[in-house]
Amino acid sequence: MSSASFSQANELPAWKTLQSIYDTEGKSLSVKEQFEKDPERFNKFSHTFKNHDGSEILFDFSKNIINDDIKQALVKLAKEANVEQLRDAFFKGEHINFTEDRAVYHVALRNQSNVPMKVDGQDVMPEVNSVLEHMKEFSNQVRSGEWKGYTGKAITDIVNIGIGGSDLGPVMVTEALKAYAQKGLNVHFVSNIDGTHIAEELRHCDPETTLFLVASKTFTTAETTTNANSAKKWFLEKAKDESHIAKHFVALSTNADEVAKFGIDTKNMFGFENWVGGRYSVWSAIGLSVCLYIGYDNFVDFLKGAEAVDKHFTSAPLEENIPVLGGLLSVWYNNFFGAQTHLVAPFDQYLHRFPAYLQQLSMESNGKSVTRSNEFVKYSTGSILFGEPATNSQHSFFQLVHQGTKLIPADFILAAQSQNPIENNLHQRMLASNFFAQAEALMVGKPQETVKAEGAPDNLVPHKIFLGNRPTTSILAQKITPAALGSLIAYYEHVTFTEGAVWNINSFDQWGVELGKVLAKVIGKELDNKDKIESHDQSTNSLINQFKNWA
Ligand code: F6P
Repeated sequence: MSSASFSQANELPAWKTLQSIYDTEGKSLSVKEQFEKDPERFNKFSHTFKNHDGSEILFDFSKNIINDDIKQALVKLAKEANVEQLRDAFFKGEHINFTEDRAVYHVALRNQSNVPMKVDGQDVMPEVNSVLEHMKEFSNQVRSGEWKGYTGKAITDIVNIGIGGSDLGPVMVTEALKAYAQKGLNVHFVSNIDGTHIAEELRHCDPETTLFLVASKTFTTAETTTNANSAKKWFLEKAKDESHIAKHFVALSTNADEVAKFGIDTKNMFGFENWVGGRYSVWSAIGLSVCLYIGYDNFVDFLKGAEAVDKHFTSAPLEENIPVLGGLLSVWYNNFFGAQTHLVAPFDQYLHRFPAYLQQLSMESNGKSVTRSNEFVKYSTGSILFGEPATNSQHSFFQLVHQGTKLIPADFILAAQSQNPIENNLHQRMLASNFFAQAEALMVGKPQETVKAEGAPDNLVPHKIFLGNRPTTSILAQKITPAALGSLIAYYEHVTFTEGAVWNINSFDQWGVELGKVLAKVIGKELDNKDKIESHDQSTNSLINQFKNWA
């Protein structure tokens, strides 16, 4: 299934229905009033997801600007846009990434049920399982101290060198699951080409006890190969002998030739296939830092949490399909309310890199403007996703969310149980009270009458009004366990999938990152000498020449 039977989503009948609902009642629909009218609203618009281990996550969509008609029309839109057919093609390993002629099959990596999953007629599970077995064996050896560095000492520091999907997932997950980490084993991440990044991280490391994971799907990414070469130099300055590299460098990649050229024995390579997109690769060998940090059993639990969402996504009717509903809401705000952004605020310090991770997932996937029928889209696509953990974000940009001129749909995430219930859980209760209060405040607002009744002077009344009716989705987990985190990530992956399917774009390529890379290569050469540059536009030439003067 390479292209849908339609080109422009806004030509679908359900899109037109949604437009007319928006024009008549949708744009002024008061969520507060909807709650007053319907005592069943919460039950109707919230869904509890049950994980493989029996734990649950509650997704409350009821504070969104929707009613029965809107939900029905959105579900109809998903049907007309063939979301189910595309989803089925995705799970069958068809080449839905048609611009790169590839399957999109990261779901096979978390297929813990081990049912055969085929790409081009070939079951990929034996290879997936064999890499997992290798990860298990290796992580057990490193964690137990059996794997020794070149002077016979156990590994204390793991440095993952990678960028984009080869960094953001591992960083986010290791941070999120710090409570599950083995004491005495530290992880570091080097992604930026800025020398400061590697210099600062290596300051904490000793070559004798450091293990480098060079994580790159292609093994040709300039930032990663440059950082990996610098790491090798740093290591050899002390270790001297190149044969010691085998104990201290492993590669996570699809490209065995480049790995060997770099000097890593392919026995120390953890492979995966080109049907794993970078932003979906934390489930693959790219997740080795996670596996080392939290241990293999926890890593498997992480996979199982995602698999449970995959099962839900492929089997639940669209009306009850949690990621489908999340994706449709995003289309509703993006295309009918004209929302440009989407806020994700985890009320969880361990999830502080979650929004950054979601930025690549969402914006690299759906920042596209050509349909699967190769035409320019006639509507807005991918949202600008942003976020920071609360409550910090409340004291920073929430002002604009509450009283600014823009509609910013928001997701709030909280776990009921803290990993650090200090002060008799006081911190957790305060955190949770903010999670509930923010969503409530955004919805109910504060009308003029209330502001006046509180005695505000006339000139301050307008400043103190909150219009309310600002939509939020509250996601309440029991605890951020490896399984719950796996589920949350898979939820957002399938939200992103649903959006892209409705917009009829290819969510799986990333041609937009190429042009800048090519130009940087050309300019990189021009920076090697002091010659005056005149080959670019006036601004670029002047900036380069000034840089050369000052460098
Ligand atoms: O430049 C974007 C990108 O291709 C991402 O999609 C990818 O996650 C990242 O670069 C890193 O690529 P690689 O894993 O091949 O080094």
